Amino acid sequence: MDHFLYQDGALHAEGVAIADIAAKVGTPFYVYSSATLTRHFQLFTEALSPLQHLVCFAIKSLSNVAVLKVLGDLGAGMDVVSIGEYLRAKAAGVPGERIVFSGVGKTRDEIRAALEGGIRQFNVESEPEMRAISEVATALGVVAPIAIRVNPDVDAKTHEKIATGKSENKFGIPIAKARAAYAEAAALPGLKIVGVDVHIGSQLTELAPFEAAFLKVRELTLQLREDGHSIERLDLGGGLGIPYTRSNEAPPLPTDYGAMIKRVLGDLGAEIEIEPGRLISGNSGLLVSGVIYVKNGEGRDFLIVDAAMNDLVRPSMYGAHHDIIPVVEPVPGGPTQSFDIVGPVCETGDTFAKSRELPLLAEGDLVAFRSAGAYGAVMASEYNSRPLIPEVLVQGDQFAVIRERPSYEEMISRDKIPEWL
Ligand code: LLP
Repeated sequence: MDHFLYQDGALHAEGVAIADIAAKVGTPFYVYSSATLTRHFQLFTEALSPLQHLVCFAIKSLSNVAVLKVLGDLGAGMDVVSIGEYLRAKAAGVPGERIVFSGVGKTRDEIRAALEGGIRQFNVESEPEMRAISEVATALGVVAPIAIRVNPDVDAKTHEKIATGKSENKFGIPIAKARAAYAEAAALPGLKIVGVDVHIGSQLTELAPFEAAFLKVRELTLQLREDGHSIERLDLGGGLGIPYTRSNEAPPLPTDYGAMIKRVLGDLGAEIEIEPGRLISGNSGLLVSGVIYVKNGEGRDFLIVDAAMNDLVRPSMYGAHHDIIPVVEPVPGGPTQSFDIVGPVCETGDTFAKSRELPLLAEGDLVAFRSAGAYGAVMASEYNSRPLIPEVLVQGDQFAVIRERPSYEEMISRDKIPEWL
């Protein structure tokens, strides 16, 4: 459920008409609903209660500081994968004790900065990284809390580019080698083992792969405890999928996911951490775009919109589907037209949808891409020298620009011509 609904014939974000935002900000832009973000976060906390838990929002899905503040103020933790993300979480007022640091390639500088600023735990992805963390911590005279990310060799049954839990993927330490890795970690002076971490992929639409991975984590936890390690926390990663179409998809709900976690791991007495990104942010955001031209091609009509693959790369990168709806409410049973919806970038891959049936649309009309909150703005680039587009946050009947559209001057002035040219 989200808070993007038609009211009085016009698409609204909560109490604000999308057309009013477009008039003020210009198109294209991203818009996020605070109420939807809040609701999705709360679904997870309710689903995991009464277990002791922390829902760490995966910032990589949507990292605007204002959005992080909405979630941080509700008590959310944050899952970060770079010091840039760490600093964003801090800028949103999230304390270090609620930030977990994941990612396969943390540099020594990043490790140092996180230790200095405070960190809940590092999710360690390899033996060399473990040694680096110990070294940096020892040099600073502190002890770094760690969980080791294990790779359970489970097929997440999702898009190959976002599956992470198979042994051929670069992520984590193979679960068969985990006991040896924990033994090494325990012997290193700068580390304190606090838990086990796992994340098997993104946009999972079934619970079975999660359950298979969590059962392996359960077994490992019991073994590690027998080996004398203190496993107080289990970080179960993110990955729960969302419906991208309104009609035919019904991925498991956070309630079902939470119930399964309680059933599989609830008796271990460990604090549960999860790292959902998409389920919190995905359906909390729209990309709003204006129609530049309607071009009648041979056997097809193109809707040329002012958003492009540089603003939302998911369709061209993963063949992802995003529902695209008009901002003016269509008349039920009214005439429709089949469109290929494309952006202005000079690549055939700059295609958002093919043969999409939409109400008749004309130059200047507005359309909204649904489910664009996750992996939308954060994956944007300036390809074709198109400045990054603004982000807007709505709460009730108020809205604010939370990232401004840079001017062309600002974009170009980042380039420097050497004096010898
Ligand atoms: N934790 C870790 C360690 C991750 O690598 C990820 C996502 C998450 C949590 C959050 O997963 P989520 O709950 O959002 O599924 N750009 C792709 C998705 C990449 C996901 C990367 N890792 C897309 O647009 O579909």
